[in-house]
Amino acid sequence: MKPSPLALSLLLLLCSAYELLEVNAVRLSLHGRPRPKHARGWLGRRAGVVGNTSVGDAGDIDYTTDVTLGGKKFTVQIDTGSSDLWVAGTVPNNKDTGKETKVQYAVDAVEGSILTASLEFAGYTVDDQAFINVSPSTENPDGSGLIGLGPNTGSQVRDALASSAGDPVLDRIFRQNTSTPNYITILLGRIRDPTDPPNGDLTVGEILPGYEQVTSQPKLPVSVLASNNAGNQHWQVLLDSDGVIGPAGNNVIDELNVKTAVDSTSNDKQLTVVLDTGYSLPQVPPAIAEAFYSKVPGASLVNRADLNGEVWQIPCDKEINVTFKFGGVKYPIHPLDTNLDLNLTDSWGKHTCIGAFQPMNPQDGATYDMIFGMAFLRNTYTYINFGDFVDGSASSTAAPYVQLLSTTNNSAEAHSDFVKVRGDSPWTPEAASLAQRLRSRLPLIIGLSAAAGAVLLIAVGACCFFSARKNKRQRMAFFRPGPYQQLHEPAPPEAHDLHLVGQQGYQPPPAYSNPWDARY
Ligand SMILES: *[C@@H]1O[C@H](CO)[C@@H](O)[C@H](O)[C@H]1NC(C)=O
Ligand SMILES: *[C@@H]1O[C@H](CO)[C@@H](O)[C@H](O)[C@H]1NC(C)=O
Ligand SMILES: *[C@@H]1O[C@H](CO)[C@@H](O)[C@H](O)[C@H]1NC(C)=O
Ligand SMILES: *[C@@H]1O[C@H](CO)[C@@H](O)[C@H](O)[C@H]1NC(C)=O
Ligand SMILES: *[C@@H]1O[C@H](CO)[C@@H](O)[C@H](O)[C@H]1NC(C)=O
Repeated sequence: MKPSPLALSLLLLLCSAYELLEVNAVRLSLHGRPRPKHARGWLGRRAGVVGNTSVGDAGDIDYTTDVTLGGKKFTVQIDTGSSDLWVAGTVPNNKDTGKETKVQYAVDAVEGSILTASLEFAGYTVDDQAFINVSPSTENPDGSGLIGLGPNTGSQVRDALASSAGDPVLDRIFRQNTSTPNYITILLGRIRDPTDPPNGDLTVGEILPGYEQVTSQPKLPVSVLASNNAGNQHWQVLLDSDGVIGPAGNNVIDELNVKTAVDSTSNDKQLTVVLDTGYSLPQVPPAIAEAFYSKVPGASLVNRADLNGEVWQIPCDKEINVTFKFGGVKYPIHPLDTNLDLNLTDSWGKHTCIGAFQPMNPQDGATYDMIFGMAFLRNTYTYINFGDFVDGSASSTAAPYVQLLSTTNNSAEAHSDFVKVRGDSPWTPEAASLAQRLRSRLPLIIGLSAAAGAVLLIAVGACCFFSARKNKRQRMAFFRPGPYQQLHEPAPPEAHDLHLVGQQGYQPPPAYSNPWDARY
């Protein structure tokens, strides 16, 4: 017996609304449940980063490292998108500052007392490191936590203590010995990569052996926000104006007329990218996700509550090659990262993969266009120089910058990795269709049509005025809706604000404005 399509859609709508309510509290990217992991030995100023996917919780891939607070070990997620340290469970030998605070993340928040204790991290020791002590819960069990590696202007702890005593970990490390070079580097491994290890590394003030070339890559200046917006500051850099290369080798920015939503950017073809280890799925403008995935045979854009919004569902065996460009250098994305297997099922219960680059609509007053999370960062060795973004440093002596070394630099190996893991199902990528291109230029077309319409109106008026013989039917023909009408297609999806929220100064996540936007 075949259920009627109407009944099915109703059921799906109900299910997705239910899931939305249920899963809202799960933070997609930062809040994976820490699982017992093998700590890697310390090696210089370096912390082993362990990557894993949790079974059953699809979107959750996390990278953690171990720190010691007051002599007790905590396994913390690494997050370049926030700036505070918090841990769940009792911390021995702590001192209470008498203050409390709360950190709002993209999908949920943590709060607790601000304590201090002696911290060991990446080979450094910091006395009296301030941190938030969170009550253990199922979501954040005793011994778990998160270390924020973002700019200190986003720190809630520093705000609450209103002094350098509340500085984030990296500021403390850089300040206590000014000879320590003020940069960090991050290498994230790929889970299920047959030729590379799943783990990663995090270093402070040192380069990983074998990756020295990172310092000869182009220096990408961090776009510094105005001081009244400093709470939204992230490690953000500009993509090249031809910096998005689609599956067919096509220039997506030009082809789809993609423009930045960040007002202060002088070249509106340059998108602002936040580098954020706390996001599993990179967030991109919808047109870019469409350019990557819409032509893949079997692809569909769906709204999944477990992934906090719209995402392209695609068959797992389709290889999708895309590349980004920063400072004139190409950074190819491994096909195991463009097409992610999170062990998900579609609404019919069939195993499906997803397009890692998830559509995100810009908001008014946006300070960035994209968030490059783990699926991008697995393809680069990432160097972040804090410059003056260290508390107490004289401003405007050194600007912060980023350098990226491609680690997906062997396309034959990447291809064979993909085929080994997912199988070989060749397809021929195409550039954007005429309809997509026209749609991307809709505002221009509307403008031109309006102008043409006005000209026509005048012409028609003139005709009517001068020639009473024109009959009504013929005149009406002038106003037949043009061929562009059908290009309106579905209305643009509502912004998934959950992705746009962050630390201090981040707008609190407004409720989903359109939970019924389920497009299965
Ligand atoms: C990832 O998790 C699985 C299951 O919990 C475990 O067997 C595996 O060893 C973990 N891998 C790493 C690299 O931690
Ligand atoms: C995938 O999900 C199924 C159930 O949904 C589970 O039995 C299986 O262990 C999962 N596999 C992996 C690799 O996570
Ligand atoms: C400060 O850092 C420099 C360079 O990393 C190092 O050689 C020196 O031993 C450090 N000093 C202290 C007191 O840790
Ligand atoms: C290529 O990637 C490997 C790691 O996958 C890295 O060790 C090497 O430095 C990279 N080389 C270049 C030239 O980017
Ligand atoms: C992706 O790139 C690899 C390596 O260049 C190539 O062998 C493969 O055919 C490409 N696949 C698609 C679908 O474009």
